[in-house]
Amino acid sequence: MQKIMTTSLLIAGLTSFSYAAEKYDTTAFRTATKLCSSCHGTAFYQAKQIDDDDWEFYFNTPGKMEKLHKDKPVALKAINSPTFKKRKKRLLKFFIANSKYSGAVNGCDANFCGTNH
Ligand code: HEC
Repeated sequence: MQKIMTTSLLIAGLTSFSYAAEKYDTTAFRTATKLCSSCHGTAFYQAKQIDDDDWEFYFNTPGKMEKLHKDKPVALKAINSPTFKKRKKRLLKFFIANSKYSGAVNGCDANFCGTNH
């Protein structure tokens, strides 16, 4: 009986795991890839560097992003771009969903195939 329970729990766990792995905002992923990946690595890698509170702090403290990147003209251009402004909220959600303690593990798909940098 116990064996059956364990097995079914395991199957349920694996099913939800693979389902969760498919679910992320591909638009946010592509935006981060375009604007940030040249310095920060893939969007998932970038997301994992800090936790949810830090993402919120960096994104929602006025002028913080500019200050962090003050001697990085390429980064400033990215942050001041209309694309970033338009997708800032989505990017923040994406980074939080994939942040340090989120437990998000991303498999292989058309955008991303398990590499970290
Ligand atoms: C030209 C290179 C470059 C680009 C492009 C760039 N960054 Fe950065 N970013 C840096 C560097 C270098 C630091 C480290 C600054 C420091 O620690 O003083 C940094 C730091 C940060 C930090 C602070 C946390 C940390 O990991 O140190 C955040 C958050 C961040 N960047 C977000 C972004 C986002 C979001 C984008 C895209 C919109 C972006 N950056 C684009 C170079 C870049």
